[in-house]
Amino acid sequence: MFRLAHFSDPHLHFAAAPPTLAERLSKRSLSRWSWARGRGALQRPELLAAAVADIQAHAPDHWLCSGDITNLSLPGEFAAAGRWLASFASPETLSIVPGNHDALVPVPWAESWAHWQPWLRGDDQTASVSASQFPYRRVRGEVAIIGLSSALPTPPGFASGRLGAVQLDALAELLRSSQRDGLARVVMLHHPPADGVVRRRKALDDRAALRAVIARCGAELLLHGHSRDARFDPIRGPDGLVPVLGVPSISAIPNPKDEGARWNLIGIERVTGRWTIEVTARRWLPAAAAFVTAAHYRIV
Ligand SMILES: [Fe+2]
Repeated sequence: MFRLAHFSDPHLHFAAAPPTLAERLSKRSLSRWSWARGRGALQRPELLAAAVADIQAHAPDHWLCSGDITNLSLPGEFAAAGRWLASFASPETLSIVPGNHDALVPVPWAESWAHWQPWLRGDDQTASVSASQFPYRRVRGEVAIIGLSSALPTPPGFASGRLGAVQLDALAELLRSSQRDGLARVVMLHHPPADGVVRRRKALDDRAALRAVIARCGAELLLHGHSRDARFDPIRGPDGLVPVLGVPSISAIPNPKDEGARWNLIGIERVTGRWTIEVTARRWLPAAAAFVTAAHYRIV
């Protein structure tokens, strides 16, 4: 059984210099205000450290992070996040995709996602590829990890995402070729693919087009972040339903807006010719100050 650890939305704490005039006039000022007004107090570094330790204790074969690693998309945040990623997983054992907070405003590639390149480069991609590299495919064991980017700058007040036709066409091709290769196809993106999971101003604009690709080409599992609670929203595939699993922020303490930190341990194996998925949900239990198993189930 190949075991994946999926977590999302770590929203690392950051050391920010006083905002420049340009920053004050950008969307960053809204996020900075939200962070200062309480969001920062809800994202706990010590909880994140406990989550990383809990994942390490489960010794997964591969780690997956579905974005929102930063808060304001400051160049210093991208560099610090790169150092954080390197502190617990090698590029061989961790794959990531960006979230809306990682594209809050336009930032040159070299000052932003270039710091994360080792973890978002496909097996056949070179170090020099940039924003056009999505989707990427990384094969680990019998699993094809397909990473999509739904992150792009949006107007103030919006946290929506979009994949675009070029990425969706490439996704269809990767799903077909990975099936021909006999691999379990795990697709990861930041925004939820199903309807009604988040409000429209936070949703994936072309989620219907994504679902149409999955309905045509199939996939074994879709993973996302971005929502405030744990999600299980299956969508249509060519031969039945395709499971879609979402996790809330890995660093959020439970509060009226957030269900609180969770991550999923996902085992994938082929049983009598069919892919079987086993999920162990780990959630932060404040009373115990520890992660505990919240659910354990099998998807056939
Ligand atoms: Fe998000």
